[in-house]
Amino acid sequence: MKKISSLVLIIALSTSISFAQQKMDSFISSLMAKMTTDEKIGQLNLPVSGDITTGMANSSNIGKQIKAGQVGGLFNIKGVDKIKAVQKIAVENTRLKIPLLFGMDVIHGYQTVFPIPLGLSCTWDMEAIKKSARIAAIEASASGINWTFSPMVDISRDPRWGRVSEGSGEDPYLGSQIAKAMVTGYQGKLQSNNEILACVKHYALYGAAEAGRDYNTVDMSRIRMYNEYLPPYKAAVDAGAASIMASFNEVEGIPATGSKWLMTEVLRNQWGFKGFVVTDYTGIPEMIDHGMGDLQTVSALALNAGIDMDMVGEGFLLTLKKSLAEKKVTIAQINNACRLILQAKYKLGLFTDPYKFCDESRAEKEVFTPENRQISRKIATESFVLLKNNNNILPLKKSTTIGLIGPLVNNTANMFGTWSVAAEMDKSVTVIQGLKNAMGANAKILTALGSNFLADSTLEQRYVNVHNPKSYKRDPRPEAELIKEALDVAKKSDVIVAVMGESSEFSGESSSVTNIELPQTQKNLLKELAKTGKPIVLVLFTGRPLALKWEQENIPAILNVWFPGSEAGDAIADVLFGKVNPSGKLSTTFPQNIGQIPLYYAHKNTGRPLEEGKWFTKFRSNYLDVSNDPLYPFGFGLSYTTFDYSNFKLSSTVLKAGQKLTAYVTVTNTGKLAGAEVVQLYIRDMVGSITRPIKELKDFSKIMLQPGESKVVTFTITEETLKFYNSALKFVAEPGDFNVFVGSNSRDLQAVTFKLVKQQL
Ligand code: BGC
Repeated sequence: MKKISSLVLIIALSTSISFAQQKMDSFISSLMAKMTTDEKIGQLNLPVSGDITTGMANSSNIGKQIKAGQVGGLFNIKGVDKIKAVQKIAVENTRLKIPLLFGMDVIHGYQTVFPIPLGLSCTWDMEAIKKSARIAAIEASASGINWTFSPMVDISRDPRWGRVSEGSGEDPYLGSQIAKAMVTGYQGKLQSNNEILACVKHYALYGAAEAGRDYNTVDMSRIRMYNEYLPPYKAAVDAGAASIMASFNEVEGIPATGSKWLMTEVLRNQWGFKGFVVTDYTGIPEMIDHGMGDLQTVSALALNAGIDMDMVGEGFLLTLKKSLAEKKVTIAQINNACRLILQAKYKLGLFTDPYKFCDESRAEKEVFTPENRQISRKIATESFVLLKNNNNILPLKKSTTIGLIGPLVNNTANMFGTWSVAAEMDKSVTVIQGLKNAMGANAKILTALGSNFLADSTLEQRYVNVHNPKSYKRDPRPEAELIKEALDVAKKSDVIVAVMGESSEFSGESSSVTNIELPQTQKNLLKELAKTGKPIVLVLFTGRPLALKWEQENIPAILNVWFPGSEAGDAIADVLFGKVNPSGKLSTTFPQNIGQIPLYYAHKNTGRPLEEGKWFTKFRSNYLDVSNDPLYPFGFGLSYTTFDYSNFKLSSTVLKAGQKLTAYVTVTNTGKLAGAEVVQLYIRDMVGSITRPIKELKDFSKIMLQPGESKVVTFTITEETLKFYNSALKFVAEPGDFNVFVGSNSRDLQAVTFKLVKQQL
């Protein structure tokens, strides 16, 4: 009976889906029947607004283009009134009244800013990440935005690349879970006026730029692409992402924007992507510099490849008609791209109500609300990673006299991190404010700047927040004087809290570096502070893994806070004083030094692996001058309590095809404080038709435990868990032996084994 009714439901549902699809198709077909070729090409054009701040949209060049039906969408306009005014032009002053898409880089929150994506990924908390995307969508849509250029899901294993800050780290499995959480958070069911289009970027392999230099060449085998770099894009597509952005880099010798293999063969034919593809900023004309031909040639190349929308480049707008006449592209291709853009508008509900996202009453009630800020604060505390805590220096007592020293102590704009275009730069809680809020009226805090970000003032200019250059004032005094002032403060304090690291602009787009240590002037300060013998807590701001060997060896406590967002100071105080027990785990390996890059946990064994526990053996795969170990491994992060793992076992030592295994492990909180632990499951395929990584993350579970409490955590392993792309790029699980590991990071693990058997025993 139950079966019959669910069958009826499925039939009813699919009938109504196909009915809705038919309705959309026929609406778009009849609209397109009225469109000229120019108007169709116009839909493929996405200019940047430059924020139409003047209210002069009507007379601006873009205003003219909109009226001429030459614009499909616009991006980076801030404010519902401005967006409404522009939408009005589109629906009142154009021949066919087609509404516009309004995009923006809403990357880690709109006005309520959450931690940078790399920080978010260290929460390993998919509900929290989804929630951050949901709130971002609510706030952005209350401000007129209906399309965000997020999530950025590029795997990267190179901390020199500034954009590691925008992604979820090095791991395809974790990255895929996060991609899914973000897409569903932004889009929901794409029904209400607070659900917006996601745009997965940058497809593909953008994070593998040679030498970590932004926009640089990428070259890798397809086996590596399929197994390690493509999974998060695919996961986002599987989660229903409405759009995808082409990356700037080349793949197999062809810029991604012009790669038919990527845009059509993989994306559409293999993955079944149904949304639209947009280029990155001027991605089409950049193919001229890649050496692929003139504007007309590269624009035709992009359309032929499967690009639907041209961001800023105007290559489609200026050349497609000519290419059509010369038979370099077909009208079917233009129709197809136009249909996909119109479909996105239809799905958003813009044809029913072009002002659906332009409700002026919402912003005041829904943007930067106390509730959203509370959630941001909570998520920020979850993103912090406690890297070291000797002698339990942390948590601090509120009665302590704190020497609060460093360039990030009292700095509003640098709490946000890269890509916070909608944030109001003075609306963040500074570190000093957060500590004062927590300590109350009797707070004993002494402060000193101690150092600038960099010693070199000219170089430092590059790292100043471009959105708010006034946000940072350099102290012109010489380094020695700044240090002396800091030492005076240190001497009067019980504990030094050094708030140091990178400014927001050290990472993000076009912010690659060749040195990933703490800037020398800050290190000099830290060294002098260490000489005082006072306990020191380093509160580290960074958008990338840093090489912290000296700090690890000399500073007793290190709390990595990334860039925490709007509520930075309060969140930091929550953790420093133990109101929240840190639980963040690294989603990216921290190397000992830059020469080890790329360093990642899921590496191959090689034919000459170094024996476990060794530093160097001649004729083994290692370095003369540094061990192969990371400074902090993937998955690592301490807590104010301790966890014990016991009774790790499998339900069977044999996994038969079509069946499943259960892994059990008992995790106990053996310390004195309640805390959350991320229990991690890794698997190694011992023998394969291609070489396999020494371990791969396959599952994880974040659990909360009271002091003394134990929980049995279970993981299910099926044939699916063991699949990988073989040399024929077939997704297969091969029979044989597997090691299963469980533990609190990718290094400290316990192991058991099982066998996958394909034929019946
Ligand atoms: C970036 C994208 C971004 C776009 C629009 C580009 O430079 O690579 O990530 O979405 O600009 O602002």
